[in-house]
Amino acid sequence: MSELVIKPTAEAAAQEAAERLVAAAQAAVARRGRFRVALAGGGTPMALYRLLVAEPYRQRMPWPQAEVFWGDERHLPPGDPGRNDTAVLPLLAQAGVPPAQVHPAPYTPGDPDASARAYEAALRRGWSAGEPLLDAALLGVGTDGHTASLFPGTPALDETKRLVVANYAAYEDRHPERVTLTLPALAETGLILFLVTGAGKREVVRRVLTGTEDPPLPAQRVRSRFGPVVWVVDEAAW
Ligand code: 6PG
Repeated sequence: MSELVIKPTAEAAAQEAAERLVAAAQAAVARRGRFRVALAGGGTPMALYRLLVAEPYRQRMPWPQAEVFWGDERHLPPGDPGRNDTAVLPLLAQAGVPPAQVHPAPYTPGDPDASARAYEAALRRGWSAGEPLLDAALLGVGTDGHTASLFPGTPALDETKRLVVANYAAYEDRHPERVTLTLPALAETGLILFLVTGAGKREVVRRVLTGTEDPPLPAQRVRSRFGPVVWVVDEAAW
């Protein structure tokens, strides 16, 4: 089940996403004293991240209680500009997230499977039975219908047990070797929030939300056992 929210501009879409993340974070902290979130990579969410680490959202987000992960990562050395976390880490420091609560995907040179297994171990630490693995996961969508690093026709889509796996897929000029949350991991997430903006995504958003493709696009397969999947888009992307 999906919920679609259409906002007039990309800025308004980022604000809507910020409001929903703040609400999810405050509820999680009220319930269990912390907020576990997986951030999306790519370019779209950067406007949201800059919003969340500046006032007024910086005060409204319980950043000192946040545990920050990434939904996927390009398998590159820490600090590489091609990684999803490189541009975001300084923003999290600005927000006051304790460094021990920021969890970049590990990097094992030449062994993305080892990195995936290490990341899964990090995710599982602090996961209490009966609780969501993550309180929220922010996701984007590629023009091919991928989300995180779950690309059409790739083995990662068929994983039914592991929470994090390695994957390999060429997309634009991005590094193809990846580690990614799996569909079972996303299913254990409290709030799944897609943020998609821009006319370039209009076709794929329509395909995902209204299409009946076989096989379904990866973004169509994302489910949470805790609630609806929320899509926040701007008018250009709808
Ligand atoms: C990645 C991202 C990926 C991203 C989409 C959309 O590592 O590339 O996690 O899933 O969300 O490719 O990217 P843009 O927002 O840049 O269009």
